[in-house]
Amino acid sequence: MNNVKDYITTHKDRFISELFNLLKIPSVSADSAYADDVIKTAQTVKSSLMNAGCDIVEICETKGYPIVYGEKIIDANLPTVLVYGHYDVQPADPIELWDSDPYEPIIKATKKHPEGAIFARGACDDKGQMYMHVKALEFMIKTNQLPCNVKFMIEGEEEVGSDNLGIFVANNKEKLKNDIILISDTGMIANHVPSITTGLRGLSYVEVEVKGPNRDLHSGLYGGAVANPINILTKMIASLHDENNHITIPGFYEKVEELSAEERAEMAKAPFSKEAYQKALDIETVYGEKGYTTNERNSIRPTLDVNGIWGGYTGEGAKTVIASKAYAKISMRLVPNQDWKEITQLFKTHFESIAPKGVVVKVTPHHGGQGYVTPINTIGYQAASKAYETTFGKKPIPQRSGGSIPIVALFEKELESKTILMGFGLDSDAIHSPNEHFGVWNYLKGIETIPYFYKYFTEMNA
Ligand code: BES
Ligand code: MN
Ligand code: MN
Repeated sequence: MNNVKDYITTHKDRFISELFNLLKIPSVSADSAYADDVIKTAQTVKSSLMNAGCDIVEICETKGYPIVYGEKIIDANLPTVLVYGHYDVQPADPIELWDSDPYEPIIKATKKHPEGAIFARGACDDKGQMYMHVKALEFMIKTNQLPCNVKFMIEGEEEVGSDNLGIFVANNKEKLKNDIILISDTGMIANHVPSITTGLRGLSYVEVEVKGPNRDLHSGLYGGAVANPINILTKMIASLHDENNHITIPGFYEKVEELSAEERAEMAKAPFSKEAYQKALDIETVYGEKGYTTNERNSIRPTLDVNGIWGGYTGEGAKTVIASKAYAKISMRLVPNQDWKEITQLFKTHFESIAPKGVVVKVTPHHGGQGYVTPINTIGYQAASKAYETTFGKKPIPQRSGGSIPIVALFEKELESKTILMGFGLDSDAIHSPNEHFGVWNYLKGIETIPYFYKYFTEMNA
């Protein structure tokens, strides 16, 4: 790749200001109040792909938010890379915890990002990382160095489960045909420790309701004489882990892939400081399943976490009341071979079975998806590895992530191609949290590295 560094230096300010324009539009897919902004973001992505030099760019309507599709086909005999990303973002709440407006991007230096980081909702997840691909494409087209065909598929419903994308993919297999899928929507270990994500966890997300008496009751007149749904719910939830932090749902671990001692030893080579981890989160100690390290607990092991719990009186002051109902939202992160629908059913059966008489329990499944593992003995992985080696001067470490992108398993099933996860964010970039940010260095390094992937992938396929 000739002069990619020069191209970036020349156009750096524009690359940043274009991303700012994208970040200024609050494309929150979960909240219908932002519907117009989500659609406006799709149009902005469309224009950016046209400006980068795609031959065809279309807005593909779905039952929900549109999918932006673009392509540049140079020769049917050359390989095709399909880039996937998402233009929707998580809600910014709690807004009062942001140090600046989530939709007024600003650059501030941080300890991890001395060269400055862009603070805005979606900066890292996923507008900033998605836009690296648009700018890498611009570079390759404008300097006549695009070595193969490219297709872009950027959706607006990733943060709410990608249901409509699943339908779109199943209905457009020919259009989406490719040799490799490339995604930047994950992270890496550190700026001086490049890594490639080789695994994503699956997910099962459920909501539970515990119903007691038919109305809220005076906690003096009735307390002690009826089942209190909040007491019961918390007790039921507590029983889902044993004293070793193993999950107690019968059959939950049955299909879990157990890694060999060699694989675990290989994983343990990734640099990790427990002290720094604890310090960054201001916790006295890490916590989790007995017999596993922190890096194992958040990547190769399944988990169960309450994401929200409510019921009764939570306003100012005190109100003596026994609520009629209590609720919780629970997520289970799954690992290879665990089937999310099966796990959802196991949870439902178990949770209903542990309900004492006197309450009625209802379990409502939300969304879910399968986990994913990328083999590293493929051309796709080798091309990515060589690309990082070229621009970072170091071989990247393969590392499984704890997060989920459920659509990736579906890509493999429907399109029969592997996905390469080239993430450039850091765990400390606060995705989904207040003060989300993305390092300027990371943004530009991504733009620099991506063209090499195309080059090596094309060469290795020849
Ligand atoms: N980009 C994230 C997933 C991610 C982040 C994976 C960092 C690995 C490292 C994605 O946008 C996301 O937030 N996924 C959700 C699941 C989705 C179904 C809402 C998640 O992991 O909670
Ligand atoms: Mn994402
Ligand atoms: Mn996300």
